[in-house]
Parts: sequence; structure tokens; C-alpha cells
Amino acid sequence: MADLCQPDRVHWCDGSDAENQTLCDLMVKSGTLTRLNETLRPNSYLARSHPSDVARVEDRTFICARTQEEVGPTNHWTEPAAMKQKLLGLFKGCMRGRTMYVIPFAMGPLDSPICKIGIELSDSPYVVVNMRIMTRMGKRVLDKLGADGNFIPCMHSVGAPLAPGQKDVSWPCEPDPKNKYIVHFPDEPSIWSYGSGYGGNALLGKKCLALRIASTVARKEGWLAEHMLILCVTSPEGKKNYIAAAFPSACGKTNLAMMQPTLPGWQVTTLGDDIAWIRVGKDGRLYAVNPETGFFGVAPGTSEDSNPNALKTCARNTIFTNVVLTPDGDVWWEDMGVPPPAKGIDWEGNEWTPSSGRKGSHPNSRFTTPASQCPVIDPDWEKPEGVPLSAILFGGRRPTTIPLVNEAFDWEHGVFMGSACGSETTAAALGQAGVLRRDPFAMLPFCGYNMGDYFAHWLSFAERTDRAKLPKVYFVNWFRKGADGKFLWPGYGKNSRVLKWICERIAGGGKAQKTAIGNLPTPDALDLSGMDMPADAMRALTSVDQEGWGKEIEDVAANYARFGSHLPQALTEQLNELRTRLG
Ligand code: OXD
Ligand code: MN
Repeated sequence: MADLCQPDRVHWCDGSDAENQTLCDLMVKSGTLTRLNETLRPNSYLARSHPSDVARVEDRTFICARTQEEVGPTNHWTEPAAMKQKLLGLFKGCMRGRTMYVIPFAMGPLDSPICKIGIELSDSPYVVVNMRIMTRMGKRVLDKLGADGNFIPCMHSVGAPLAPGQKDVSWPCEPDPKNKYIVHFPDEPSIWSYGSGYGGNALLGKKCLALRIASTVARKEGWLAEHMLILCVTSPEGKKNYIAAAFPSACGKTNLAMMQPTLPGWQVTTLGDDIAWIRVGKDGRLYAVNPETGFFGVAPGTSEDSNPNALKTCARNTIFTNVVLTPDGDVWWEDMGVPPPAKGIDWEGNEWTPSSGRKGSHPNSRFTTPASQCPVIDPDWEKPEGVPLSAILFGGRRPTTIPLVNEAFDWEHGVFMGSACGSETTAAALGQAGVLRRDPFAMLPFCGYNMGDYFAHWLSFAERTDRAKLPKVYFVNWFRKGADGKFLWPGYGKNSRVLKWICERIAGGGKAQKTAIGNLPTPDALDLSGMDMPADAMRALTSVDQEGWGKEIEDVAANYARFGSHLPQALTEQLNELRTRLG
């Protein structure tokens, strides 16, 4: 690969503190990083990306399986040999004038049977220091690999070779969006990423390996690679329930994962905020492991109200990307819950004031921060066998129709709920606000094979183990709005009321009403102590909106039609039965 990419140097990453410091110093010198105030934000840095390189590029993401049918209607496909030729052309000489970093990384605890090793070859030192936070990275991974171990090759280049004497820019990348490629070859498997240095496009352990490639491996091996947070709820009596939850991007997974309950005696601890690898354990229950070691969280909106534990996590040893730099050398972002600086430097590097009429931080600005620093990290978050799940939650941003919480009748109904996931888009995420995008299992951009076959794989767990041992499934919606356009439910720490009801249901209690759409809490079932919830809001949140559900069914049916013969019969039946129950 060095012969292909022609870097000036090759550096094998050991993952040490000294190496990290050298790379950070190098990037401060080159202008990629700004060192933050050591007293206010110890050992932390700010990066500003190129304005063309700020988010995952779903329309430039390809799954190159043998046939288009294998990847299905939700993925972009190109014939593998043709794509490989294209990539070999792009990578030829792409690292000239730069260093090729060899980044050995592990997804999952190194001593876990689920651990998967990747080696990313990248020309970005920013990628190295981020991978060091997000994954187990360095010499210990090479040691585990030995001379003949298996690994997933991951090629990455920012796509900006330097001619002799050419001055580098602070964020090199390929500025033409049509020339960026995030490519997966599931049959090899391998990953090739060209042109972007940002987030999931470049930190290849995350979305590319731990979701898209892992989902294809999981299907073959009989497990699940999911876009889910993992948390533990502990009751005042000390009873623990582990819960995994899938929400589309920008629906508050990080906030829920680290939630501070507003119910005395209840505790939530975090095991992960983005990805769960789930397997049937020896006792027949489903066990979840977070393959990552850090949080790559969205900064705007993270505040003392929404997520005090995330703020504490990124108090030090953190890389911030595309937020505001304050005059005292700290960071600020919109809705941080503290006043903006009178004057700062915005994410594009320009002078900014609160009255400048534009946002100071990019809506997809991020913090990369070690999970181990989270004040509510669960003591078992690195357990090699994972933790047994009592419940799985699906959800999305749904201003209408969908109740606060809805319990599935059984596993098949739960799979139906996952397949019907969707979220109202926000202006920040896609540019077109207020449109419902169906995002089954929150995996639309991350499922590496035909989504219809993925539904079938989920259904198959009813045969892989004793049904009674499967987690209970719920659909939750924190985002329901009233006629006045205001949220009906306060969310954040108050969501503990919903988690408490779920824990009661798991234990065989909790008041519920059987309805056409599932088991809903009775309006008095949730513990609302210390809250001031209007009765009509509670009624709307816990009843069936007959008309809304009529539309919901037709929209789910239209989405199902995309999958043709790959749609499992059991899900068509679920839809028909729901239609009949609604009358
Ligand atoms: C993420 C995402 O960055 O889902 O986690 O987009
Ligand atoms: Mn995510």
C-alpha cells in the first residue's frame, strides 16, 4: 500500500502518550489544532475542518457486494471490480508529501471473543489522535494480532497530495463532494475511504467497520451489529436492568445514554452511546457490548440541562471540532446553557459575535472524548461477554401520532416497530426540515446489506433462543408536540419516568392498557412526582391517535414496498394485523 500511495514516510502507531503528544504538537504547528487553555480545558484541542468536509456523506457511501440485490434499495452499489479500479487510481500517489500512519485498532475489548481488529492506513494525524480516543489503538493490538492474525484492512486518504515545496493547508481534503468515496467491500472485507477527514468518513472503526461491515459479518455469524446506545438503570432497591436503544442520528442517544434521572434513588449508568454488538449468551439471553472506547458527540445542544455528564466527560483530554473558540482559550457552542463570549472565533475561523447573525459552531460540530472519563460510566462497560439486555428501545423525532412509550406484544411486533422507525429531519441534519424519513432500526445509513434480509435476520432471533429470554421491545417518542407546536413532554432527565415504567413492566408489574398499536401505560401509570404535567398532555401522550395511525400505516406500507420479495412475510402480517386492529 505504501508503494501505491507513495507517502514520504511510514509511521507505525504505538498508541502511547508520547506519540499522541508529538502528533498534537505537529498539528498545532501546522494549524490543524489549536491548544485550549490548560487550566480551563486541560490537554484539549480545537480543530476546524474545511467547510466542505463537515459530516458523513451518505450519497458518496457505497457497498460493493457482488450484486445490487445483495445491498438492496437503501444502499448505493457499484460493481466491485470497477470500483476497485477507480479507487486504485485515486490512491495512486495520494499520500505524496505526507506520512502514512499505520493505525492498528480493535473494536470491542481485546480479551473479548467478539473483538475485531482493523488496520487503518491514513495520511491524517487528526485521524490517529481521534482513533486513539474512539478505539483500542496501538501496540497492544499488534501484539494480539501476532504474525498471522486476521484483520480488516482500512484504507484512508484525505486525497490531498503535496507537490515538493507545496505549503500544506490546515484541513487538507478533497473539496469536490463528487470526488469523495466511502467504500465497503463486504466480501473481502475491506474499507476504502477517500477525500474526507471528518468523523464517520475517516474514523473507519466506527460506522464503516463496526456497523456496515460488522452487520454483514453478524448476519453470517448469527449476531447483531446495531446503531444503539447501551445503558443500565438501577432502581432504589438495587435492581439492575440493561437497556439498548436505537434512535436515528441527532435524536439524543448520547443524552439518554448518560441521563441524570430526576427520580430519587434511581440511577442510570452508561455503557455506550452509539453502537452495540449483540449476541445470544450461554444462558440464552441477548448480551450487548459497546465496541468503542470514546464518544464522538454532537456539541450544540449539550448543556447542564440536557446532558451534564457529557459536559463533565469532555472537561479534559478532548478534541473539539468546529465549535467556537473563546478569547480565554476555551470552547463554546449554541445551546451550551452558558452565555456566549462577547467575541470569539467561529468554526470557519472568522471573528464572531453573538449579534453577527450566524451560528458560531457548526450544527454537526463534535467532541471526541474518552468514555472512561464519563462520571456515570458503568463498571461493566468493558466486560468481554457484555451485559444481558432486558429491553430494547426504538425511537425517533416524531412531533405527531406516536405515543410517549409503547410496548410490543411480542418479538415479531417488536421487529415490526424497529422496521417502522423514522424521524422528522432537522434543518441542521439534512437541510429540508420537518420531513419524515423512514429509518428502520436507525440503520438506514449503516446496514451493509439488503434491509429486507436484515429484517429477516432480526426475526430469526425468536428461533435462535428461547423467546421468553428475549428482551422486551418498546417504541419511545420524546418529541411529541401539541397544537401550539410546543413539546408535550419535557424529556432529558424526566425520561427516567418512562425507564421506571419499563423496569416495572420487565418485573411483571406496571399499569398498562392493551390497545390496537401495543401496550400503552395508563395515564396514571408513570411516576410523575415532582412534575407538573397537564392531564390533557398525558392523555395525548398515552392514547391512540386513530387518524394519525391510519396515515402511519400507509407510510410504513409504502416504505415496505421498496423491499419487494426481500420483505419477510411476518412483517406484512404485522402490518395487516395492525390495520385490522385499528378497524
Ligand atoms: C453519528 C451518526 O455520528 O449517527 O453517530 O451520525
Ligand atoms: Mn450514530
